[in-house]
Amino acid sequence: MNRRFTLVAAALAAAFATTPLMAQQAPLKVGFMLPATGTFAALGEMIEKGFKLHVQEQGGKLAGRELQYFKVDDESDPSKATDNVNKLIKRDQVDVIVGTVHSGVALAMARAAKESNTMLIVPNAGADAITGAQCAPNIFRSSFSNWQPGYAAGVVAAQKGYKRAMTITWNYAAGQETVKGFNEGFEKGGGKVMKELSLPFPNVEFQALLTEIAAQKPDVVFAFFAGGGAVKFVKDYDAAGLKKGIPLVASGFLTDGTLEAQGASAQGILSTLHYADNLDTPRNNAFRKSFALAYKANADVYAVQGYDAAQLLGAGLAAVKGDFAKREPMLAAMKKASIDSPRGKFTLSPQHNPVQDIFLREAKGTNNEYRGVAVKALADPGRGCRM
Ligand code: BEZ
Repeated sequence: MNRRFTLVAAALAAAFATTPLMAQQAPLKVGFMLPATGTFAALGEMIEKGFKLHVQEQGGKLAGRELQYFKVDDESDPSKATDNVNKLIKRDQVDVIVGTVHSGVALAMARAAKESNTMLIVPNAGADAITGAQCAPNIFRSSFSNWQPGYAAGVVAAQKGYKRAMTITWNYAAGQETVKGFNEGFEKGGGKVMKELSLPFPNVEFQALLTEIAAQKPDVVFAFFAGGGAVKFVKDYDAAGLKKGIPLVASGFLTDGTLEAQGASAQGILSTLHYADNLDTPRNNAFRKSFALAYKANADVYAVQGYDAAQLLGAGLAAVKGDFAKREPMLAAMKKASIDSPRGKFTLSPQHNPVQDIFLREAKGTNNEYRGVAVKALADPGRGCRM
């Protein structure tokens, strides 16, 4: 070995010995499984934008760790969900999966994440079982359970003195569970649900169901729809002449990210959700300003949930100085994290679902405006979770 080679080798060895661990690590692989097509496409886009905004605010890294992104369009199609999530787990071998919007797709993702022990952060889908019967140490949610906004809407509708309600939704986990939450809150407050109406996801042929509502004349209608389907429902409800006579109370997704497209038909709709556009706090104001600057668009609840998914991951990584291999301390830090969200600070339940205030909002212009706290610090019951 010549002397020059020995000197170079010695210098390299010394450099590695003194370089912090993080600098030697490959980027953390983050796999987004979100809808890029179909009725929830806009929701997926906002989640990804929110996630990346937080990373950008941290200098393009999380806890000093570079990220490498992988993407799969899940099309909000549960029948393709297992194949799709395995593209991220087996083909791309990601460290963390962030997804998705649709509850049925997310349930399949949670199964695959549990089996493969891949970390999963759910930035929207509310399927109760994800932080209930299917809970796992490696599965977290930065959004809500379907039960939460549904239950709060039921409480509000009963407080407003409505006695007879009809519900309308898509017939899949999110719709069914949100309606179940509504029934629980409404009946506890003395109301009675007369009839539950539904149609298959993602159908938007509402006419026959609207005719039935007009015939039954309930005091109030509770609805869960989101994305493109929510736009069509709100317009059809108005066009059918129902808006004037039978008030809608909704899970907030009915009017979130959709107000521009819904126009006059949405004005005045009351809804319950863990976010309101005009929450006048320094944290929310700074977030909305930063989002508008980065994307020339207004943030919505989906952007907040994506942003907070990145914050949650960042909290775990910070505790282990970016060393993702230190799984146990990282999970422990995520479990006890207090997330400084634009919605307000929240912590996680023992089943890893946000414990959060659910707000009453009213659609005004292009904002869902804050009208008060419908239920304070609401924790999903986490039924069936054994961890
Ligand atoms: C869900 O499928 O869980 C869902 C979809 C859109 C908005 C909210 C929930």
